[in-house]
Amino acid sequence: MRIIKKIDELRAVVKDWKKNGLSVGLVPTMGYLHEGHKSLIDRAVSENDRVVVSDFVNPTQFGPNEDLETYPRDINADAALCEAAGADVIFNPEAEEMYRDALTTVNMTKITEVLCGKTRPTHFAGVCTVVSKLFNIVTPDRAYFGQKDAQQLCVIRKMVSDLNFDIEIVGCPIVREADGLAKSSRNTYLSREERQAALCISRGLNIGKGMVEGGEESAAAVIEAVENEIRREPLARIDYVEAVDYNDLKPLVKIQKPFLCAAAVYIGKTRLIDNFIVE
Ligand code: PAF
Repeated sequence: MRIIKKIDELRAVVKDWKKNGLSVGLVPTMGYLHEGHKSLIDRAVSENDRVVVSDFVNPTQFGPNEDLETYPRDINADAALCEAAGADVIFNPEAEEMYRDALTTVNMTKITEVLCGKTRPTHFAGVCTVVSKLFNIVTPDRAYFGQKDAQQLCVIRKMVSDLNFDIEIVGCPIVREADGLAKSSRNTYLSREERQAALCISRGLNIGKGMVEGGEESAAAVIEAVENEIRREPLARIDYVEAVDYNDLKPLVKIQKPFLCAAAVYIGKTRLIDNFIVE
């Protein structure tokens, strides 16, 4: 497995693969890889002849008061995980290599302005821009994204359709710790006490999921039940709990499928997201 830091070098490698008729899978990540990322890489390895994992903490998707500086990084551990999982290349560019003096951004309206977009107004422009660049650099046949970032997945699918990228987007299920906490690189910020407190999120969502599966039709009732469970935890502060149509992310009154119930919750200073989807 190779670690590549330069765009031209990666392009040459991919060109060679394509010349030989090999299919290419891309797993975009910000590094500090965990089991959730590994599940994306495993799936990509099983469905493509060659796999590129991008490992880039993308500055443009962080807001001014967010955790860009402290975001965890460990390229050696990431390389070991990718190698063991059977990826062929880790693409680990510097910010200067990715952006230089770029003046172009990829912006999307509406579905980027709800849920996480309300408190992170520039986030999805950063995501769309870097993912477009990665798509143009790697020209993959398929790209893999986790459903933990359900809004991101929805935004990427829309971008691929709007901008006619010839790439199949594969959404992969959330991977959880044994006690239910959704795997996230940001879990490393949690103290022992906060780590325990964070379980209120998956517990709350599970209650909501049970209600929907049991035939509950009122979105407000589901949201209230999820919020009530989270509020029982003193270290938790809710950013949002919302119930939306998973196609257009518009709020629902009556539950209909596909349905996304998404939550963003501060545990101490750490903002965590989690969700359930009923297709
Ligand atoms: O999901 C992430 O880790 C990032 O948002 C992504 C898609 C790699 C873009 O930087």
